[in-house]
Amino acid sequence: ETNKTFTMIKPDAVANGHIGAILDQIIKGGFKITAMKYTKLSQETAGKFYEVHKERPFYGELVDFMSSGTIVAAILEKDNAVEDFRKLIGATDPAKAEKGTIRNLFAQSIGANAIHGSDSDENAKIEGSFFFSGLEKF
Ligand code: CMP
Repeated sequence: ETNKTFTMIKPDAVANGHIGAILDQIIKGGFKITAMKYTKLSQETAGKFYEVHKERPFYGELVDFMSSGTIVAAILEKDNAVEDFRKLIGATDPAKAEKGTIRNLFAQSIGANAIHGSDSDENAKIEGSFFFSGLEKF
């Protein structure tokens, strides 16, 4: 579905008290939140979620970081959701993120970069289903 994407507010942004400001930007950006929850990933679950990055040099660091604290996972709805959401959050590396984007405002580093956004419609579906059941996705 081209009208849905999946996001996580990452442990750094939750710990730094940015959940409210980030949700505000998401809503003002025209996204409807259709499912949302607080959760904390175990190392095993984070490892599974990021399995596609297993061979990358930063995989261990990524899994450690993503299981280090509470996250907020959500499914978002909007026309052209995946692409528009990636514009709203900015580049992976906050040093390269455009001014006013969520990562420009709230991210610390390429690893602790405040928020995740799916990179394709296919991954949005896979990632959303990883966290939410059919009932929650309504
Ligand atoms: P995300 O898009 O959520 O999913 C993959 C993550 O890997 C990405 O966000 C970054 O936070 C992280 N990542 C990418 N490159 C690096 C890196 N060089 N060092 C640490 N983490 C990285």
